[in-house]
Parts: sequence; C-alpha cells; structure tokens
Amino acid sequence: MKLLSGAFGSWRPHVALSPCIETGRLVLRPLEPADAEAVAAYLGDIEVARWLVRVPHPFTTKDATDFIGQCCTTCDLGTAATLGLVMRGDDRAIVRGIVALHSLDTRPEVGFWLGRPFWGHGLMSEAVDATLTWAYANLDIDAITAGAFKGNVASLAIQTRQGFEVVGMSCRPSLIENRLLDHVDTRLTRARHAARPWRP
Ligand SMILES: CC(C)(COP(=O)(O)OP(=O)(O)OC[C@H]1O[C@@H](n2cnc3c(N)ncnc32)[C@H](O)[C@@H]1OP(=O)(O)O)[C@@H](O)C(=O)NCCC(=O)NCCS
Repeated sequence: MKLLSGAFGSWRPHVALSPCIETGRLVLRPLEPADAEAVAAYLGDIEVARWLVRVPHPFTTKDATDFIGQCCTTCDLGTAATLGLVMRGDDRAIVRGIVALHSLDTRPEVGFWLGRPFWGHGLMSEAVDATLTWAYANLDIDAITAGAFKGNVASLAIQTRQGFEVVGMSCRPSLIENRLLDHVDTRLTRARHAARPWRP
C-alpha cells in the first residue's frame, strides 16, 4: 500500500485527514462536490442503505451534496476522515463506496458501504484494511470501534478478518425501518491491529 498525502484536485479539505491511499485495486481519496451523483446512486439503493444507521430513503443528489458538505466540515474540524473508493485506472474517478472514520476526537469509529454492483470481490476488505493501517500509522488513537446491525454477515466478516472483537450488543436507530435494531458492537485495539497475522 502506498500513502500519498494531500493533493487531489483543487478542492482540498483538512490535509491531515484527507489522505489519498492506493491499494492494489483502489484509490481512496477525499470526497468532492462532484461525487454527489454517484454517491446518491449507490446509497439510494435500499439494499445498501438499510444496513446503515443514519441514511434516509430515498437518498437524493441533494442529500448527497449535503452529506459531502458535512464530511468537509468534520474533516476541517479534525473529527472525521471520509474517503471515497475509486477503482485504479478509472479515468472518470467515480466513487463506488465510502470508508469513514468518525468521532476521532472522542471514540473513533469506522463505517463503510459499497455500491451493490461491486459486492463480493473483496474490494471493501481491501479498503478497510488500508484505512485502518493508515489510521494507526497517522492518528494518535488507541482503538477503533465498529459493528453492524445483527445479521449483516458481510460487514461482520470484514471486521473479524481485520481483528475486531465483539464487545457487546446495543440498539441503534434505523432511519429506514423507523425503529431501534439490534446492533453488534465491535472494537479493534492498536495492539491487536499491530499483532494481526491475518490479511484480506
Ligand atoms: C458490507 C459490504 C461493504 C461488503 O463489501 P464487499 O466488497 O462485497 O465485501 P468483501 O467482498 O470484501 O467480502 C467481505 C466478506 O463478507 C463475505 N460476504 C460477502 N457478502 C456476503 C453475504 N451476502 N453473505 C455472507 N457473507 C458474505 C465475503 O465472503 C467475505 O468474507 P471472507 O473475508 O471471510 O471471505 C457491502 O456488502 C455493503 O456495502 N453492504 C451494505 C452496507 C453495509 O452493510 N455497510 C456496513 C455497515 S456496518
């Protein structure tokens, strides 16, 4: 994995939290206003959105534009890093999913989603692996939390592979279902990340 800091186009939020990370198949880079259409298209898919806590349905281009603006604000505040997944060699640099590190000032948490046409090829495993490696190399944090609504086998498989441990159960709101759902809470410490023998 190659880490490149900073430069991506002319739109550039907080440099420390806007890396450009290259993996074997992907470039992970900060979101830009021009990504709104792609984000809306993939996140507007209920099969993606129903597994996420704060996503309304339908999810419009305006929602995506607002979301990208919020990502820019939290990046500037130093509390979150939100990276879009682009296939290497994609000249149009279309964002196909997102990995985000939230609450970096309090209780760092990672979240992610991928457009449905791209599921099942190990892309998110690759993206999450690179993001966690970047986070522990560049941020002063001791642990990262995650989790998933009960039944989200793919998400929990990715987390287990990375070394996340289940630390409990909670209830979290689903905007789409308009109720609280059972949530599996997980955690990856810096020590477990450093000691991991596993790779995606
Ligand atoms: C979760 C998600 C990001 C996975 O992306 P992906 O690129 O398809 O994941 P990968 O190909 O890296 O697969 C991850 C693991 O899940 C397994 N998996 C994938 N889809 C699965 C399914 N439907 N049922 C069971 N296992 C599945 C894979 O076999 C793999 O397991 P392994 O590492 O033990 O081989 C994608 O399905 C998604 O965006 N879902 C909706 C949003 C979401 O759930 N986000 C996470 C919220 S906590």
